[in-house]
Amino acid sequence: MSGVSVTKGAEDAAPAAGDDLVVLSNVNKHFGALHVLQDIDLTIARGEVVVVIGPSGSGKSTLCRTINRLETIDSGAISIDGKPLPAEGKELARLRADVGMVFQSFNLFAHKTVLENVTLGQLKVRKTDKKAAEDKARSLLDRVGVGTQADKYPSQLSGGQQQRVAIARALAMDPKVMLFDEPTSALDPEMINEVLEVMQQLARDGMTMVVVTHEMGFARSAANRVVFMADGKIVEEATPDQFFSNPRSDRAKDFLSKILHH
Ligand SMILES: Nc1ncnc2c1ncn2[C@@H]1O[C@H](COP(=O)(O)OP(=O)(O)OP(=O)(O)O)[C@@H](O)[C@H]1O
Ligand SMILES: [Mg+2]
Repeated sequence: MSGVSVTKGAEDAAPAAGDDLVVLSNVNKHFGALHVLQDIDLTIARGEVVVVIGPSGSGKSTLCRTINRLETIDSGAISIDGKPLPAEGKELARLRADVGMVFQSFNLFAHKTVLENVTLGQLKVRKTDKKAAEDKARSLLDRVGVGTQADKYPSQLSGGQQQRVAIARALAMDPKVMLFDEPTSALDPEMINEVLEVMQQLARDGMTMVVVTHEMGFARSAANRVVFMADGKIVEEATPDQFFSNPRSDRAKDFLSKILHH
């Protein structure tokens, strides 16, 4: 294996034991007859970057959505920072702020400016005052490279710019963990890298991240761990180096041969 690697390295980056941030224990979920999540056990440490990959329909999006309770679970338990997910009300709103989510479709508020998109949650959920919220929004927009777009509406931005605004909007809530569900899949190819670079930087800054993506370059360089799902189960978990060079299961081998040679 190559001596020079930009991978964080499982050993170097391994956070202290007991610093588990997101814990899923024996989680099960059905959609009618479909057992979409089957006995999922997954622990994500503070500062860890976990990339989730797997075939279409394997349950990756559903897994993400359970972590901020966009989907409920049938059995098992999920906790964030030692606390079980709240069921409703203000507590749930706060959870959604603590667990930032970025989707394939940018989901910005179309009738609000970029700046308003990034201040809204701060004002409503975090009760930040307006001046502080705007200052923070502008600094985050600068950080993701769209500072000059603050007064435009989302439709006036490219897809890559909109997705970076969506990331800034989630970051404005000071989330404990960020979930990304195929954040670059809807983008034109030339815009993919500008979004991945923002995500790479976040990872380097120590953000805890769960990333569903088909971008294997990102997985190799940013992930501490790759989780491979198939048919509602976690089939394999490994460091990126281990997973890509030596997948153990036939399902993973088959999946990798399809995505790496196409
Ligand atoms: N709200 C729902 N009601 C019923 N079935 C659903 C619902 N959401 C997802 N499913 C089904 O659950 C399974 C898993 O879906 P999910 O979106 O989690 O897969 P995925 O791994 O994210 O797939 P993809 O790679 O295509 O995004 C699929 O068979 C899907 O059709
Ligand atoms: Mg999905």
